[in-house]
Amino acid sequence: MCGIVGYTGHRNAVPVLMEGLGRLEYRGYDSAGIACLNHGGKHLFVVKEKGKLSRLREELKRHAVSAKIGIGHTRWATHGEPSRFNAHPHLDFTHRIAIVHNGIIENYASLKEKLIRKGIRFASQTDTEVAGNLIGHFYGKGNLLEAVRKAVKELRGYFAFVVIAQDEPDKIVAFKRSNPLVIGLGKGENFVASDVTALLPYTRRVIYLEDEEYAEITPAQVRIFSSSGKLVKRTSVTVRWDVSKAQKGGYPHFMLKEINEQPAVVKSILASHVKNKRIHFDTLDRKLTKRLKQIRKVHFVSCGTAYHAGLVGNYMMGECLDLPAEATVSSEFRYEDPSVDKRDLVVLVTQSGETADTLAALREAKAKGALTLAIVNVVGSTVAREADGVIYTHAGPEIGVASTKAYLAQLTVIALFTLYLAGIHPCRKKQFSLLKMKSRLQEMLRLPSQIKETLHQEAAVVRCAKTLYGKKNFLYLGRGYNFPNALEGALKLKEITYAHAHGYPAGEMKHGPIALVDNRQPVICICPESSKTYEKMLSNIEEIKARRGIIITLATQGDKQVAKLSNQVFSVPNTSEMFSPILTAVPLQLFAYHVAVLNNRDVDQPRNLAKSVTVE
Ligand code: M6R
Repeated sequence: MCGIVGYTGHRNAVPVLMEGLGRLEYRGYDSAGIACLNHGGKHLFVVKEKGKLSRLREELKRHAVSAKIGIGHTRWATHGEPSRFNAHPHLDFTHRIAIVHNGIIENYASLKEKLIRKGIRFASQTDTEVAGNLIGHFYGKGNLLEAVRKAVKELRGYFAFVVIAQDEPDKIVAFKRSNPLVIGLGKGENFVASDVTALLPYTRRVIYLEDEEYAEITPAQVRIFSSSGKLVKRTSVTVRWDVSKAQKGGYPHFMLKEINEQPAVVKSILASHVKNKRIHFDTLDRKLTKRLKQIRKVHFVSCGTAYHAGLVGNYMMGECLDLPAEATVSSEFRYEDPSVDKRDLVVLVTQSGETADTLAALREAKAKGALTLAIVNVVGSTVAREADGVIYTHAGPEIGVASTKAYLAQLTVIALFTLYLAGIHPCRKKQFSLLKMKSRLQEMLRLPSQIKETLHQEAAVVRCAKTLYGKKNFLYLGRGYNFPNALEGALKLKEITYAHAHGYPAGEMKHGPIALVDNRQPVICICPESSKTYEKMLSNIEEIKARRGIIITLATQGDKQVAKLSNQVFSVPNTSEMFSPILTAVPLQLFAYHVAVLNNRDVDQPRNLAKSVTVE
């Protein structure tokens, strides 16, 4: 959580920092601030505000700040409530050093006590200020890099930070342990940020800092040092992301834009991995493919929406291969002492590639010798770099906190990977013949246009949302492949509307949740005709109807049986059950979006959330 940005160069740093923070605001929006060395580098100037970046922007209008160097921060509170005092940047006790930080310093309390005993005073409740004061404590002779190195030796936890000092007026020092930092290279100017999206307006040449590395950044050069102080040689990489993808492009919200990008996202995934009617992944080398053929079990490990993608993956694996598969949320996997070894494949699914629990799960799996594969959106992210193999979803930047296009991209990649594995692994199910595989692949190629068609349901979704947006409780039901989508639909709704929503396997309804159903209860039922439990699902819908529930159904186009039972139907084109979640997810996303808009919710930045969860 939290977004960090830093600039040193020939421009006025303030607009650069504010532009960067605008692009990082999805990482946290409890408070924001910047610190600059005012032109001439005489003193550190700090402006910070509680609340969104817009408040900082307003505040900045009252100050004429011009600086060639500065750092900025947008916060998701961990230690200390959201307030101006706890907002970053923090100054050290000498007021010569400013720091912005992302992550958690686990031993901050004992360090704070130690520093207080030395007579150092604190102005905030944050762990960040402890790091700042420790650096200030070591700064004595005016060598920022050295002071940072000494301080880091005492800091426990997972974090990244960036500091500037008044006495070294063109230098930024950055350190990374687990949480991401990327350096942007310019001409006579350099940048640093939590995420490349903040750098895209200025440069595409970037260097990803590795764990335990320090960077000393001046306008003329970037020097990277290992933990032992050795100068590290690192070549830059060029980022291909399109800057316009990180803007709203005429849509009122990023979420709606990202929902509408889905046909193109899925199309480009299929174009990159399906050639001459065969599936291939450039990023999986021969050695890895050899190991894939030997695996005995597949584990999908992920969080939130990505976990739901993993659950769908389970069903896919189950249909195509005689291999056990299991989906687990990362925060459970990492602590359950997972019994995995070199015959297990652990697939980490993550949009950001920085989710703390997923990263920890990856490290746990690797330590146990498992083969690890990352399905990741953000290129160069930590999970992508640390896993044995990576398949990028290439959905482009996803800015809305509610994940939409990343989810469809994950489902598409997992479906392709399952078919690919079924093609190379000795345990392909007998009934899943090569012919069937081919026809499934052909079917996949129709998905982009089918998603587009599904988007035409928006008007019906809006009509339905208008009748239900005042409701406080929603029940989502699905079976088989679409049970994970019941969870996903409910997650989307609760995270952006704050209504309570519950996803449940429809077959379990009569074991409890049916007690909720009366004539005021909306029940969203996912019931594609291709499902092998279609008829069972129809019976479940009948049971809700008998109790006069408000039935909204996601059904296959032309399904009259479902229409008769429902108050409202959202139709999706026909496809195999295996791919049906890729279509049924779309009306669920649109429904959550429109209910949120009708409730005047902050769709792209819902309360208490952040896009990437880089703390445990
Ligand atoms: O970046 P990741 O895919 O690892 O993030 C996982 C979850 O934090 C994320 O999917 C979250 O649940 C979304 N806000 C859901 O819309």
